[in-house]
Amino acid sequence: MKKLLCPSILSADFSNLKNEIKDIESAGADVIHCDIMDGHFVPNITFGPDVVAKINEITELSLDVHLMIESPEKYIKNFCDAGADYISVHYENNVHLNRLINLIKSFNVKAGVAINPSTPVNLLSEIICDVDFVLIMSVNPGFGGQKYIQNSTNKVKQLKNLISQNKTDCLIEIDGGIGEDNIQMISESGVDMFVCGASIFKSKDKKEKTKKLKKLIG
Ligand code: DX5
Ligand code: ZN
Repeated sequence: MKKLLCPSILSADFSNLKNEIKDIESAGADVIHCDIMDGHFVPNITFGPDVVAKINEITELSLDVHLMIESPEKYIKNFCDAGADYISVHYENNVHLNRLINLIKSFNVKAGVAINPSTPVNLLSEIICDVDFVLIMSVNPGFGGQKYIQNSTNKVKQLKNLISQNKTDCLIEIDGGIGEDNIQMISESGVDMFVCGASIFKSKDKKEKTKKLKKLIG
């Protein structure tokens, strides 16, 4: 499986979003990560399905929609219609996770479960065979530009074990605090999808940074 660099537009310049996306696309980014926040599950608010649909019109890249919202079941169809290729929902606020994962899959969209830094990997044992990917949060969700929580690398290793014990082939995504200094080490631990926000969009040269990060993940 090819490793995927997934720039998060959370740190992009929204007044120039089209060009920001074109830049990273031309530099070899694989997937666009869209952080959806509602001010309830996380203390920040971003954007919704209409903006995702517009992004879908201006890029050929796949869209990865990370839902940090309450009652995600109400919005799954809207995000699928908007052009999402991957959707992740959080373990922490979804009692009917199996139903939600099946709902996402019913739209032929890849379904993932996301876990916060304090949520143990072993809680995923009953859902691991049903998901296409697991998103390990390596910062507390809500904001870009935070520092990588070191224990996240151990969680990747635990997740790799859980996946192989269950003889399933779900992908591992990591999100938060990832940049030039740690992406290679994180890649070596077995991650497939790398979300990078500030390290790309707050850099002086987004194209060069995208190319460099792609090279480092191997
Ligand atoms: C945080 C979001 C991340 C964020 C990552 O809640 O889920 O996707 O954009 O940003 P950086 O790479 O700046 O930590
Ligand atoms: Zn995210």
